[in-house]
Amino acid sequence: MDPLPPLPPGYRVRWMRPEDAAHAAALSRASFDLPWAEEHFQYEVRNPLSRAWVVEEMANGQVVGFLILWLVADQAEIATVAIAAEHRRRGLARHLVARAVREACAQGARQIDLEVRVDNHAAIALYRALGFREAGRRRGYYQTAQGPTDALRMQRSCS
Ligand SMILES: CC(C)(COP(=O)(O)OP(=O)(O)OC[C@H]1O[C@@H](n2cnc3c(N)ncnc32)[C@H](O)[C@@H]1OP(=O)(O)O)[C@@H](O)C(=O)NCCC(=O)NCCS
Repeated sequence: MDPLPPLPPGYRVRWMRPEDAAHAAALSRASFDLPWAEEHFQYEVRNPLSRAWVVEEMANGQVVGFLILWLVADQAEIATVAIAAEHRRRGLARHLVARAVREACAQGARQIDLEVRVDNHAAIALYRALGFREAGRRRGYYQTAQGPTDALRMQRSCS
C-alpha cells in the first residue's frame, strides 16, 4: 500500500461529525456554484455507505476542508471535496483524496470514479496527480450561472 502524502504541519484529519455539518455546508457554499446543504452533510455522516472526513486546523479547531466518499459494492465515488481558499496549495486535498482512495480500495472497490467540471483546472490537475484518468464526458451535467457545463468523468483503479 502506498504511503499517504504527508499532511502539512498544523492540520489533522478526522471523521466528520454531525456538528461539523454547518461548517462543511458554509465551506461548500464558498467553494461551489451548486453547494451541498447542511442536511446533505448530516445525511452523509450517518450513511453507512459513506465515508466523510474533515481537515481541522489544529490551532483553533476550525474545519478547513472535507471529503465525502461513497462506497457501493465494488464501486466507489468521490462525491465532493473542498479546501478553504486560504488553505489551498498546501497539499491538503492531495492528502484527503489519497486517503479516500486507500479507504475505497481497502473496502473492496475495484475503481474510484468522480465527476468534475471541465473548466475546474485545479481539481483536474489534482486528480491527474493522483492517478485519475479521463473516462468520458457528461454533456450539460452542471446547471451553472453561465449555463449548462459539461462534466469530465475521471477514474482510477485500485490495482
Ligand atoms: C481543487 C481543490 C480541492 C484543491 O485543494 P488543495 O488543497 O489546494 O490542493 P493541493 O494543495 O493538495 O494540490 C495538489 C495538486 O493539485 C494540483 N492543483 C491544486 N490546485 C491547483 C491550482 N489552483 N492550479 C493548478 N494545479 C492545482 C497541483 O498538481 C497540486 O500539486 P502542487 O501544489 O505540488 O503543484 C481546491 O482548489 C478547492 O477546494 N476548490 C474548490 C472546490 C472544488 O473545485 N472541488 C473539487 C470538485 S470536483
